[in-house]
Amino acid sequence: MRRCEAGAIIAFVILMQGPVEGMSFNILRAILSPPVPRITRVRNASPRELRLKNSLAVSDFLGLVKQYHYPAEEHNVTTIDGYNLKFHRIPGSARSSLVEKKPVVFVQHGISASSDSWVLMGPGRDLVFLLADAGYDVWVGNFRGNSYSRSHVVLSPEDSKFWQFSFHEMAYYDLPAMIDYALDHTGQKSLIYIGHSMGTTTSYILLSERPEYNNRLRLVVSFAPVAYWKHGRTGIQKFLVDNGDFIEQTLRNQGIHELYPQSTLITQLLNSLCNENAATHKVCLNVYFRFFGSDPEQFNTTLIPYLVSYFPAGMSLKTLAHYYQHLSSGQFRQYDYGYVENFGRYQQAEPPAYDVSKITAPVALFYGRNDPLSYEVDVMELKKRLTNVVASVAISYPAFNHVDFVWATDAKRLLYDDTIELIHQYK
Ligand SMILES: *[C@@H]1O[C@H](CO)[C@@H](O)[C@H](O)[C@H]1NC(C)=O
Ligand SMILES: *[C@@H]1O[C@H](CO)[C@@H](O)[C@H](O)[C@H]1NC(C)=O
Repeated sequence: MRRCEAGAIIAFVILMQGPVEGMSFNILRAILSPPVPRITRVRNASPRELRLKNSLAVSDFLGLVKQYHYPAEEHNVTTIDGYNLKFHRIPGSARSSLVEKKPVVFVQHGISASSDSWVLMGPGRDLVFLLADAGYDVWVGNFRGNSYSRSHVVLSPEDSKFWQFSFHEMAYYDLPAMIDYALDHTGQKSLIYIGHSMGTTTSYILLSERPEYNNRLRLVVSFAPVAYWKHGRTGIQKFLVDNGDFIEQTLRNQGIHELYPQSTLITQLLNSLCNENAATHKVCLNVYFRFFGSDPEQFNTTLIPYLVSYFPAGMSLKTLAHYYQHLSSGQFRQYDYGYVENFGRYQQAEPPAYDVSKITAPVALFYGRNDPLSYEVDVMELKKRLTNVVASVAISYPAFNHVDFVWATDAKRLLYDDTIELIHQYK
């Protein structure tokens, strides 16, 4: 374990077990789950316009996209369990006609991200712009709990009940709601799905738990697939395996259910610790790379202040806890409530496993060889159990890490060109 990582862990433990408990928990709460002020989003204004006004607000998806003169739309859908999701669409581009009926591609973000993450680099670089240029009707999802989908018909996000979900519910309720909406709206019968990280986890859960969706996804593209976690562990992961239950319980007891919302406090904190001129820049990068895989060549550090105003965008503690359970059990299965509650919910002591052999839709796996959250051996474990894998591609650039799938400087050349070539076969 490196020094900085140990430092981060020790800092965490001190915050958790500090001598003045009340105070340390207030610090912890302020950092992990800060109250207002939340970041203000300004509809339709581009980041440049906001900078000129010297505003602390951030642009929304519509502003990010329209600054490049691409069409963009926002749509609302309410899931059957009451969450209001706002998600986005780029129906085409100046390079492709807006009139003809186009194949629909649905793009889904990973943990604590939002639709914004897919449009931060601009045309010619981001996957969704490239897809729009290539003649696709691109829909970009937002899961419950992030800044676009922090709303429910009766529950308030201030209410702990609001946050009682993990990626299981996103897969079971959010994806069907958004996918059905996009299909209805466009009058199509099926679409092409592209997910990153948790966007892959949720696609496997959807297709195993609600197999009727196998007909509605005519191709599933997985960037950095996450399902089974059986092999090598980084120091941070080992720490989580050993202490996850304790951390989760402690946070829960403190009434912390939401983690890292998009807020001015977190943005300013990350910015001041991590920007290129900060004394702590190197330490910060080190922690980041330990977590996601080290790839300085593909990460443009000049963009840090810009990126941290859009990411993280919020998640529930339970989502992280569900992943930590997978990490510790090595199994891909429903949330573990403990022996007694499991019996009540599942009629068995252990949570039921997701049966990925029910996935009949064609799946294409793209993975990096330097991705500690999606090791090649674990991707192969998944591949072994899937019945219809149409491509399994290790990115040729050896340092490709977990976030490179979205933000790598050369993502187009290293990944997106191949992806688009593949999905052309499923038009
Ligand atoms: C979506 O919901 C917001 C309020 O949350 C509303 O302002 C907006 O008009 C709605 N958009 C559509 C397309 O229904
Ligand atoms: C990094 O980002 C800055 C700011 O947008 C840009 O000027 C620079 O060209 C980028 N560097 C690379 C290697 O893309």
